[in-house]
Amino acid sequence: MSKEKVFFTCQNCGYQTPKWMGKCPECTKWHSLIEEKTVEVKPSHKHRSFHDEQSLIQNIQDIECDQTKRLQTKLKEFDRVLGGGIVEGSLTLIGGDPGIGKSTLVLQALNALSRQKCRVLYVSGEESLEQTKLRAQRIGANETTLFVLAETLLEKIMSAIETSKPKVIAIDSVQTVYTSEIESAPGSVSQVREVVIRLMYLAKKRGIAAYVIGHVTKDGAIAGPRVLEHMVDTVLYFEGDGSQSYRILRAVKNRFGSTNEIGVFEMRESGLEGVDNPSELFLSERPLKTPGSVVVSAIEGTRPLLVELQALVTPTTLALPRRTSIGVDANRVSLLVAVLDKKAGMSLFNQDIYVNVAGGLRIQEPAVDLGIIAVVSSSYLNKEIHPKLLCVGEVGLTGEIRAVSHMEARVQEASRLGFEQMLLPASNLKKMKFKSPIDLCPISNLDEMMDKLFQ
Ligand SMILES: Nc1ncnc2c1ncn2[C@@H]1O[C@H](COP(=O)(O)OP(=O)(O)OP(=O)(O)O)[C@@H](O)[C@H]1O
Ligand SMILES: [Mg+2]
Repeated sequence: MSKEKVFFTCQNCGYQTPKWMGKCPECTKWHSLIEEKTVEVKPSHKHRSFHDEQSLIQNIQDIECDQTKRLQTKLKEFDRVLGGGIVEGSLTLIGGDPGIGKSTLVLQALNALSRQKCRVLYVSGEESLEQTKLRAQRIGANETTLFVLAETLLEKIMSAIETSKPKVIAIDSVQTVYTSEIESAPGSVSQVREVVIRLMYLAKKRGIAAYVIGHVTKDGAIAGPRVLEHMVDTVLYFEGDGSQSYRILRAVKNRFGSTNEIGVFEMRESGLEGVDNPSELFLSERPLKTPGSVVVSAIEGTRPLLVELQALVTPTTLALPRRTSIGVDANRVSLLVAVLDKKAGMSLFNQDIYVNVAGGLRIQEPAVDLGIIAVVSSSYLNKEIHPKLLCVGEVGLTGEIRAVSHMEARVQEASRLGFEQMLLPASNLKKMKFKSPIDLCPISNLDEMMDKLFQ
């Protein structure tokens, strides 16, 4: 006999309790506990396994697997973020703001696979078949092995998968799909969790690669409990500035590859187009000969990216001056401002400071420290930095300039884009074994930097 169970689930973190509470004791969020019902399922159903046969202990040497057997979509940027292509039986969660292009990305990836005669299934819980067809026409998806289903009931989706036997499936989106075994509404924590678990078992058992699109909350996390991110193999975020046409695909978790790689796309009328030279794109609108702008080099995964850093330093009218940074870590900026104050004698305590990475990119590398110092000084002193110069280096608390990695790749990229001079840590130059095509200016402290920049 199945038994009905009532409990309250926090829609923020997934915490469950049999008693209602106004505030979640786990994540301290108010009014997030919602009543949910489940029908307890029969034990045979609960003890699910990846394999039909009995569980076997095996010697690690006897297990056969072919890591090189990845499905390549041939969308270069997409494959790169996944770590070289789609892994059989893997489950990937894709999050992103509304309207950013998640459905387009997934449909395009599926279409690219179907061009190679791979059977793929796109399940839409949000749009009708006609709407999906409209998008398909826009991106030119019209292959015989691309199948589409408009359905929200998980059981029906699963049986469709069992009969049509695709190699890759996409569920758009997990918040719209529900299982009849749980009474709570689609999109609630228990539903989302159950749907993902069931899809995961199916994916592993049948060797199907599954892509699941997830909505994001106001704070930008994939809606549903964090446990969702633990359960799946890969978590991707599709980001971008809605007002601009390029988009960035980023892996925040990847069991089969690095999480440093990013894929850059441009949203066009005909769909998403991979961008081979992102540096050119990010520097295309750079104002020349203006104080408060400098180019830095950031390594994203294996590629160097040249991006523009901007700063605005203005006298404050507030008791506590404003420090705003977009695209770089705010704590890092505060720290570097303090270093400038102490080591370069700039009185920044009564100045509002805004730092921004142009183009909406996020950089986490310490190699941009020197750029931040340079651009804040440039705006404060109202002196421009030479447009053909770029800055690379980490800055320590005593104002020393420290070495950074991948110097050769950074120099090559700078040279390719027509830069003539690079300010870099002196310790990097000592270790360098290649002949640089551009002029390298080694510096070891802030004074030297100021001399070189604003001579
Ligand atoms: N004809 C067009 N030309 C250029 N861009 C377009 C065109 N049609 C749609 N787009 C872009 O595609 C985006 C919508 O893509 P898509 O539906 O894949 O987004 P989504 O992330 O799946 O959205 P949702 O969250 O609503 O599911 C639009 O915001 C727009 O930027
Ligand atoms: Mg969509």
